[in-house]
Amino acid sequence: MSETSNKNGKVVVNRSMSLDGFIAGPGHAMDWGPLAGFVAPGDVAEVAAATGAMLIGRRTWEVGDKMEAEDPGSTDYPFSGPFFLLTHRPLEPPDPDVTILSGDIGEAVATALDAAGGKNLEILGADVAGQCLGRGLVDEILVYVLPVLLGDGIPFSSPGLTRVDLEPISSARSGGATILRFGVRK
Ligand SMILES: NC(=O)c1ccc[n+]([C@@H]2O[C@H](COP(=O)([O-])OP(=O)(O)OC[C@H]3O[C@@H](n4cnc5c(N)ncnc54)[C@H](OP(=O)(O)O)[C@@H]3O)[C@@H](O)[C@H]2O)c1
Repeated sequence: MSETSNKNGKVVVNRSMSLDGFIAGPGHAMDWGPLAGFVAPGDVAEVAAATGAMLIGRRTWEVGDKMEAEDPGSTDYPFSGPFFLLTHRPLEPPDPDVTILSGDIGEAVATALDAAGGKNLEILGADVAGQCLGRGLVDEILVYVLPVLLGDGIPFSSPGLTRVDLEPISSARSGGATILRFGVRK
């Protein structure tokens, strides 16, 4: 466990990925990967139930907002815990259900993990996940490999990320997806 982990909660980078390693298509397109279209609902619910808080990058937030505006319900996820948004800019309009954090990634993870109340903290966003991996703050990576080749887009690893050694935990088929779990070697 990382230095910031409490008794039960893990810091988990959680994302869907194309077979060729992209987590978003060109222009941040996410029309290829609604989890609900591929992963068995029980598996999504199980992951959500183990999650106590989410730490989200601003670009991920904005892509989610746009998807929701264009296709209401498309970002639905069975989670109702605290959201922490990493950004240098205020939300317009402000959202009372979201806590804005800025600055040191270690402090942001510690704050959000504390709020997770012993459950897992989910990290969303390539840049934010890269910062967390680079600082050794991540305990586990959970990837939903979806049956598509995107050819181009936002890769799993953000620029500047150096080698991270992983420990396989499990792999399982779920609907049309394959769920891979890895522990991060410290
Ligand atoms: N496939 C999946 O499961 C999945 C999951 C999540 C995201 N995504 C995709 O990944 C893409 C977004 O990833 P991304 O790497 O482009 O961006 P990101 O990690 O979502 O957000 C990066 C932004 O967050 C803010 N930020 C990051 N660290 C900060 C810090 N320490 N202090 C203050 N603000 C900070 C900055 O925004 P400002 O400076 O502008 O405030 C930064 O530009 C989107 O296309 C999204 O759809 C895919």
